[in-house]
Amino acid sequence: MRIILDTDPGVDDALAIMYLAAQSDAEIVAVGSVHGNVPAPLGALNALRVLELVGLNPPVTVGAARPLAQPLQTAEFVHGDDGLGGHAGDPPTGTVAPGSAAEQIVRLARANPGELTLLALGPLTNVALAVLLEPDLPNLLRSVVVMGGAVTVPGNITPYADANFYHDPEAADLVLGAGFPDLILVGLDATEQARAGSEWLASLAAAEGPRASFANKLLDHYARFYSNMFGEHSCTLHDPLAAAIMLDQKLAGYREMPLSIELNGTHTRGQVVSDLRLISSDAYITTSAGAGRVPVKVVETVDVPTFLDQMLKALQL
Ligand code: RIB
Ligand code: CA
Repeated sequence: MRIILDTDPGVDDALAIMYLAAQSDAEIVAVGSVHGNVPAPLGALNALRVLELVGLNPPVTVGAARPLAQPLQTAEFVHGDDGLGGHAGDPPTGTVAPGSAAEQIVRLARANPGELTLLALGPLTNVALAVLLEPDLPNLLRSVVVMGGAVTVPGNITPYADANFYHDPEAADLVLGAGFPDLILVGLDATEQARAGSEWLASLAAAEGPRASFANKLLDHYARFYSNMFGEHSCTLHDPLAAAIMLDQKLAGYREMPLSIELNGTHTRGQVVSDLRLISSDAYITTSAGAGRVPVKVVETVDVPTFLDQMLKALQL
């Protein structure tokens, strides 16, 4: 699988890069950073740092500096001031590639029609801009996998929204309504099932090698944040799960539905809106949510033991 990675590293983004680097059937063709966990320029440097650690050097471009229609908000309280739990270390050797992340998506998709999979692990600003630049993008990409949203479960950054969709609701709505024929949504519905618990974290802490040792350091700050929230030593591996499902769709079970994003709610901005009533009767009031949109594959169930096992193995290379 040849992948364009759109990301806001971010601890779990960094772990997703490390996961992908360990898979022989995955090639990261290019990376774009986006605002989100940290500002986009820092995200690009962090992507370079992690790629260098795992011996990869795809082009890394800087993406959107802020959301489409709201001020920039970042999440250092989860990922640390440097986005890597305080362990970013020295600057990377490599430098960012010219151009923007959205332009890079469009250029690569046009040059390789039907071949590339887009894995989006941050706010969807770059992807939305790419759709605006190239309206035929849905037909030029082979598939799209998005980590974001909370369809049937509570949000994380607010009671209703996950951080990625909350950080750019307009972009998320644009992408979900763009007509991508093969879009998988790995939301909190899936990722909250796949928490790494104390046993898994202890196995990682005991593992040897530079990747395990870096992953351990990254998880320091991140797992402390999640452990305080969950009341037990654990953390959620959002972005690595999306990467794993992209490469092995049999890891998950799906339900197809058209989706919209709440843009005007006083309390619910950024929430995924769907009609979960499973009815088609005129006796009920229909909703405009998702109306006329191409359904997306929402991940409902996950083979958690297999995923956690694969993740641990990937970090021990
Ligand atoms: O809600 C979880 C998502 O928000 C993850 O992608 C995490 O890295 C943050 O971007
Ligand atoms: Ca992310």
